[in-house]
Amino acid sequence: MTRIFSGIKPTGHLTLGNYLGAVRQWVEAEQKPDDALFCVVDLHALTIDHDPARVRRLSRQAATLLLAAGLSPDRCTLFVQSHVDEHTRLAYLLECTATDGELRRMVQYKEKAAQARGAGAGVRLSLLTYPVLMAADILAYGAEEVPVGEDQRQHVELTRDLAARFNQRYGHTFTVPRAVHPAVAARVMDLQDPASKMGKSFGEGPGVVFLLDEPEAVRRKVMRAVTDSGDGGVVYDRAGRPGVANLLDILAACTGGDPAALADGYGGYGALKRDVADAVVEALRPLRERHAELAADPAAVDRVLREGAARARALARPVVDRAYEAIGLLAP
Ligand code: TYM
Repeated sequence: MTRIFSGIKPTGHLTLGNYLGAVRQWVEAEQKPDDALFCVVDLHALTIDHDPARVRRLSRQAATLLLAAGLSPDRCTLFVQSHVDEHTRLAYLLECTATDGELRRMVQYKEKAAQARGAGAGVRLSLLTYPVLMAADILAYGAEEVPVGEDQRQHVELTRDLAARFNQRYGHTFTVPRAVHPAVAARVMDLQDPASKMGKSFGEGPGVVFLLDEPEAVRRKVMRAVTDSGDGGVVYDRAGRPGVANLLDILAACTGGDPAALADGYGGYGALKRDVADAVVEALRPLRERHAELAADPAAVDRVLREGAARARALARPVVDRAYEAIGLLAP
């Protein structure tokens, strides 16, 4: 069995990008509780300007949505990062393995640091060390596969480098993981700005489909999606026609087709958008319905998270203890 680990940050409402790029893979991949671990990575949400009450609310909402999407506590371990101390314990050892140069080169750090500076806020030190904590999340469980969207590729590469370096210096301790991306929709773009990733931090962004959007809102956003100028018809060309390619990717991901083949069936953008809207509404319908049921019983969700944390702790503890010993710390 393959051990898999992945996480999601409670920094905003979950989006169609999170679902198609990551969560759907998780639902398909889950096997046994010890093999598949999924984590609401709340500590990562503290790396940018945050509202404490909102992070708390979004953490429970993210967990509820993951259950609504089909993760089952019988077949995977679902938990909250801050409930398992091993993540931060290990992160420190990995900070002693990483260099500041390699962290400053991370694309997401550069983007988010520029945003923070632009907003007149300081750049939190934790934003720089973010990928080290992410590496700890993964390595603490000996994960072999990390199912993520395309935007996390660089972070998983760094995780691989840190694991290999630690192993080489201190003896074999960590499994070197690999990122796994979906065949289509590994990078869902903003419907209003197809040059940018569809991201959950964009507030009420008109180009972002949120998983809990009402069907009418989904339709409105899709029908107003920016398509490309020129009159080349519906063709699949990610570089030259990114708006249309994004719609075709979303359609393919929701209906199981191939984006280039799907393009042949359309004479114009209107029909394509209508089909995309229908496909997204249908893909999200069961999730929205199940979410409404689960959200009515937050204590049940908290119970799942508590049990998940206990299981996660039991798996991470021996790995992190071994790393403490390997790096030269005296056993307590
Ligand atoms: P986060 O919270 O930004 O996103 C969660 C997952 O959704 C994917 N994703 C997308 N996929 C396709 N198109 C998009 N527009 C899109 N937007 C987001 C992300 O790639 C991700 O898989 N650093 C991580 C959280 C994390 C983590 C980890 C992930 C922390 N520790 C350990 C894996 C393993 C993040 O910010 O994801």
